[in-house]
Amino acid sequence: MGEVDPAHLPALAPPPETRIAEVVFPQQLNHHGTLFGGEALSMMDRAAFVAATRHCRSEAVTIAVDQVDYVAPVRHGEIVEVLATVITTGRTSMTVQVSMVSEELLSGERRLCGTGRFVFVAIDDAGRPIPVPPLPA
Ligand SMILES: CC(C)(COP(=O)(O)OP(=O)(O)OC[C@H]1O[C@@H](n2cnc3c(N)ncnc32)[C@H](O)[C@@H]1OP(=O)(O)O)[C@@H](O)C(=O)NCCC(=O)NCCS
Repeated sequence: MGEVDPAHLPALAPPPETRIAEVVFPQQLNHHGTLFGGEALSMMDRAAFVAATRHCRSEAVTIAVDQVDYVAPVRHGEIVEVLATVITTGRTSMTVQVSMVSEELLSGERRLCGTGRFVFVAIDDAGRPIPVPPLPA
């Protein structure tokens, strides 16, 4: 492989937090024309999984969804962005705080639409819990 163009080097730096963004398409809507709660939950779980995996660098599974609150609807055609951060670790578990934000395409107005806390457990090849590193001090 050749040298990486320096313009792309920032993309290779470790990200400070996990962010997943996409545009809300018609197949993700409920009958009110806003983002279906199950879709939102799936996006949150996926972002939280990435954050947890980046922390433990092993396989991990969701063991609990502690609390999810949908505080405002995400509308069709808006950008929906999910931010996920590991906030606490136990011996084998990690708790990930998730925020879901909508962004109006043209104005750029952002609103908090959902929050959640997901718990993951790091597992070995046999599916048994294994220790996770502590959070940096
Ligand atoms: C994850 C799994 C391997 C854990 O096995 P287990 O025998 O329950 O493990 P333990 O009882 O030792 O618990 C492991 C950790 O999870 C924590 N935990 C267990 N149940 C929990 C719950 N309901 N909420 C929060 N934390 C929980 C424990 O406190 C422990 O944390 P710690 O090691 O940091 O102290 C097992 O439960 C499993 O495979 N579950 C299915 C996971 C899955 O398929 N997820 C996809 C979604 S369907």
